[in-house]
Amino acid sequence: MALILGIESSCDETAAAVIDSNGTTLAARIVAQRIASQDDAHRPYGGVVPEIAARAHVEVLGPMVGAVLADAGLTLDDMDAIAATAGPGLIGGVMVGLVTAKALAMAADKPLVAVNHLEGHALSPRLADPALHYPYLLLLVSGGHCQILEVAGVGQYRRLATTIDDALGEAFDKTAKILGLGYPGGPAVERLAREGDPKAVPLPRPLVGSGEVHFSFAGLKSAVMRAKEARVVLRQAQDERGLAQDERMTGGHLDQEPARPEPVEGRQRYADADIAASFQQAALDCVVDRTRIALGAATPGMTALVVAGGVAANAALRGALEALAAQHGLPLIAPPPKLCTDNAAMIGWAGAERFALGYVDALDVAARPRWPLDANAAPVRGAGVKG
Ligand code: KG4
Ligand code: ZN
Repeated sequence: MALILGIESSCDETAAAVIDSNGTTLAARIVAQRIASQDDAHRPYGGVVPEIAARAHVEVLGPMVGAVLADAGLTLDDMDAIAATAGPGLIGGVMVGLVTAKALAMAADKPLVAVNHLEGHALSPRLADPALHYPYLLLLVSGGHCQILEVAGVGQYRRLATTIDDALGEAFDKTAKILGLGYPGGPAVERLAREGDPKAVPLPRPLVGSGEVHFSFAGLKSAVMRAKEARVVLRQAQDERGLAQDERMTGGHLDQEPARPEPVEGRQRYADADIAASFQQAALDCVVDRTRIALGAATPGMTALVVAGGVAANAALRGALEALAAQHGLPLIAPPPKLCTDNAAMIGWAGAERFALGYVDALDVAARPRWPLDANAAPVRGAGVKG
């Protein structure tokens, strides 16, 4: 059996895990894992501060590796290889994890496996579900990435779509910021959305129906900002006075009435829960539209529609994709929510898959702030293209 120590430090989670690649269930595969979130350190700034993140990784990682090995009842000598995220991500944090892994590999004379963080997400559904086989169509939705890829095997990725501006998780985080929900935003938006009406606020669905394969969320974010500031007039008042200016600005479905508005100077504000629910619905409509196009364009023979990355923890997204996959006669495979957000088990697992194929790295392997899964993918228009 192969025992792999996995290390993750590319953003704001410090994590370490011991993976047994021969386990036949998820429980058997993750021998031990620990995660330290830095949420409290970054919360005052409303987002991840790279310097704070790197320093926190330095403080936490060393003792955490010792603790996770103790949890597993194993030592470094028992490991077959040491895997660490080598990018993409915040370079200071990536370096902390990678240098730690190099030091451990050198001290214990173990092979090093440099893992692409995105490959960790991409293969995490195989860690969770031993019955998932290549090739599969992957929707990878995280704080920094929003892509649809064919996954044909380890290191074999064909990108069908990416975002031309914001990532999906970024759109959730920015919506959370606009609504004053704090950091991290995605789970808070999802919670609040459960209390709101997804039809209450008319929001655009950028590019839906256009046949465009790539994602765009910047316009939706701006519309959320305008909805938050808007004072809207109820339908009765509109009939007398004509359409309210603010409603026209938000665009979209002008025949919809705002639900449960709070009175403000004669006009009304949309309830935050309604904005959250309407945003989430609009974002999911975009994702389903683009994923449907990708399912049509994919190479025949995909075994499943798979969703991974932090936003895959979102229950509404999983529900929408399940319906879409069923329409195409495919199962939807999504890792348990805890394996969707950043963790070291997925890095250990990707390391195990690479190690099994003989992919090991030299101790001078470099940390990479950018590292696309499909290096051959054609560039797309837009200034903020992410991988
Ligand atoms: O994969 P991840 O943990 O880190 C990156 O590699 O980026 O993804 C984090 C992203 C954040 O944008 C976070 O707000 C979002 O995933 N997220 C969610 C949910 N849980 C995490 N977005 C929507 N609903 C959720 N339940
Ligand atoms: Zn991630």
